[in-house]
Amino acid sequence: GREDREGARAAAVKAAEWLARERLGGEASGHDWHHADRVRRMALRLAPGEGADPFVCELAALLHDIADRKLVPDEELALTELESWLKRQPISGEDAGHVMEIIRTMSFRGGSGPPMRTPEGRVVQDADRLDAIGAIGIARTFAYGGRAGRPIFAPADGSRAAPEAADRRPPESGPSAVGHFYDKLLLLKDKLNTAEARAIAERRHRFMLAYLEQFYAEWEG
Ligand code: ADP
Ligand code: NI
Repeated sequence: GREDREGARAAAVKAAEWLARERLGGEASGHDWHHADRVRRMALRLAPGEGADPFVCELAALLHDIADRKLVPDEELALTELESWLKRQPISGEDAGHVMEIIRTMSFRGGSGPPMRTPEGRVVQDADRLDAIGAIGIARTFAYGGRAGRPIFAPADGSRAAPEAADRRPPESGPSAVGHFYDKLLLLKDKLNTAEARAIAERRHRFMLAYLEQFYAEWEG
């Protein structure tokens, strides 16, 4: 009956939380358990506006980075393992397949992949992208850069640090965390699928621009 199904769904969510905590734990590049948890909460917030199934959103959000190539040596193998894990959960084959489709499509990163096919996919992708901007997005970017051995900022020799405007890329001598703002963070607000995510992104985007202005002002002294 309906109660059985709700109970089974709650059990699957608990199991996914467990798996995400175990696999992502204290990961140090910004893809840790707390990222998965924030993406889950944001996905649940966006779901009603899109008529998306909150259960599929929640599972996909919790599991979306577990098989990411930045965290595992063999992404394809990790995806296959995740698929078998899902099949062992008390959920329908349809839901399991849908969650896998979302995770696989999202892993074509950088907006160059195919558009998400379902409302649930659009919601989870937006929730993941919102976690890449604003104060948290900034923190994750510097954490990632540090982990990858990159400098926080690498102004080109002889150039002023501050660009004309914070949204113009300053000349740099190589990759840096600040450079990543121009590669990705500042572009994300125009890549969102849902109206609610676009509204949330406005303020986070303005905050990043204000942050960069302050950053350059302090850099130049
Ligand atoms: P997705 O969220 O599509 O899986 P990534 O995992 O590549 O994208 O990025 C998630 C976050 O990790 C980014 O928003 C950023 O904070 C950080 N990150 C990823 N690549 C870089 C990079 N080259 N330099 C700095 N930060 C990065
Ligand atoms: Ni993510």
